[in-house]
Order: sequence, then C-alpha cells, then structure tokens
Amino acid sequence: MNIFKNKTDLIAHMDSLKSEKKTIGFVPTMGALHQGHVSLVAKGLQDNDFVVVSIFVNPTQFDNQDDLEKYPRTLDTDAALLEEISKDRIVIYAPTVDDIYGSNIASTHFTYDGLEHEMEGRFRVGHFDGVGTIVKRLFEIIRPDKAYFGEKDFQQLMIVKKLIEKHRIPVDIIGCAIHREKDGLAMSSRNVRLKPKYRLAAPFVYKTLNTAKEKFGTKSAKKVTEWVETQFAKHDLLTLEYFIIADVKTLKAVKRKSNKNKYRAFIAVYADDIRLIDNIALN
Ligand code: PAJ
Repeated sequence: MNIFKNKTDLIAHMDSLKSEKKTIGFVPTMGALHQGHVSLVAKGLQDNDFVVVSIFVNPTQFDNQDDLEKYPRTLDTDAALLEEISKDRIVIYAPTVDDIYGSNIASTHFTYDGLEHEMEGRFRVGHFDGVGTIVKRLFEIIRPDKAYFGEKDFQQLMIVKKLIEKHRIPVDIIGCAIHREKDGLAMSSRNVRLKPKYRLAAPFVYKTLNTAKEKFGTKSAKKVTEWVETQFAKHDLLTLEYFIIADVKTLKAVKRKSNKNKYRAFIAVYADDIRLIDNIALN
C-alpha cells in the first residue's frame, strides 16, 4: 500500500501515473473509515485505474474545537481496511496539517450561489469555507478524473459541484448513496463516539425521516415539519437542531409544493454531544 505523507512525493507519484495515461478516482475523507467510505472507494475502483483516498482531519472546517480534538484518528486500521479492498490500486494521502496549511491554518472565503447560507452553513459557521479550501487544494494536488462524494453530506456534494463549476476545475463529481447500519442509522465516523444508550436511540432519526416522507405525500411541508418537531420535543435523548424540507437545487426550505420540483428532507440532531445528520429523498 502506497501511503504518502507529503504532497511533494504524492505529486511526483501522480505525475508518473498521469504520464502512463492512468485514470484517477479520488475519495476525500477525514478517516475513521467505515463501509460508507468503502462504498465510495469501491465505486472509484470500478471506474478508474487508481483511486487516491485522502485521510485528513481538516481543522478549518470544524466550528467546534472539542469536536475537532475528539474526532477519531485511526490511520493504521484505515490503511488495513483499504488494503483488504485492493493492495495495488489504492494510494493513500495522509498529510500533516503543516503539509496542507503550512503555518497559516486558515480557510479562504467561498460563495456557492447561496447554497452556503442554508442548513449546515447556517448552523456551522465557516464550515463550507473550510470544506471549499481543503477540497480545492486536494483537487489541485491530486488532479483526479473523477471524485466521489456521499449523499450523506448532500449539501457538501452540491457545494463541491458548485465549487468546480465556479473555479473551472476539470473533474467529474459522482454522488453516492447513503450507507446505513442494519437499524437504519446513517454510517458516520462519529458514531463510534455514541454512548450505548444514545447509539440505541439514534435510529429514531432515520425512522422519523421515513415517516416524514410518507406524510409528505398528503401533507404540506409546514405540517410535516411541525410533526417532526413534536416527535423530537417528546424524545428524552435526542435534541433536534433542524428539520427542513428543501428543494434539491436551491436547498431552500419549500414553501409551496410543486410536482415539477424535487425535494429532500434534511435533519441535524444532537445525541448527547454528538451531532448526527441525515437526509432522505421525498419524491
Ligand atoms: P468524511 O465525513 O470522512 O466523509 C468522506 C466522504 O464519505 C464524504 O463524501 C461523505 O459524504 C461520505 N460518507 C460519509 N458517510 C457516508 C455514508 N454513510 N454513506 C455514504 N457516504 C458517506 O465529508 C468529509 O469527510 C469532509 O468534509 C471532506 C470532504 C473529506 C473534506 O474534509
């Protein structure tokens, strides 16, 4: 397994793959890899000669210092997991903060035609500046043909598509379906931090999304939103941060349903101090 810790070596390696006309898929991650990440890598291996997986807990996208410090870092197990999938077609890039940022650990400000003001952008100030900064840098270093992002972070996927359009970065962005545990909980690196009683409670999030979807067939977005808010108000362990039914193109909350538009429900919930996000297509 090729593991690169600095960009100079990785760039040289990418240059040699490119000179051999190899196609490159790219899966950016923050590590603590799970089957959701693996599904992106597997898709990348199907479509490309090589897949670069970056493993980097990006400090500039965290709005909460405690979350950054407690974010799981498990490079050895991550590398072992990837090696099980392919010994010779995966390249890992696991840089240090210094390799990416030097002495200036700061993000650049990005605008994404208003997508940045909704949901995660509203509740996690500066988050999408951090994401834009790291994803753009990684694209410049790796120069992939295709890059894979999960619908688990649907807003991030839309924002990355906007980023490459605005900055004319020549890469195809491929969105991949959400991977879930058997009980419906969306897989996430943060799930390992859930204490047992919160882990047991967490599938309630997806269960509620499914019922909301059913209700949206006959009820207004407002009525469905109120129903979801009531369910969480009654819940002892889970605290709702937001539930929004939004248009998939603008990510703005829907006021009046129209058959022409596609909608998705988005949710953020606190289970103790762990923040869970999820979403579901409604039509
Ligand atoms: P991370 O949370 O590690 O996720 C890396 C990629 O895996 C993202 O595209 C995310 O949407 C996808 N992913 C996570 N859980 C998933 C699941 N259950 N099913 C399908 N895909 C899933 O997202 C980030 O890291 C960072 O913001 C990053 C893009 C790496 C920039 O730092």
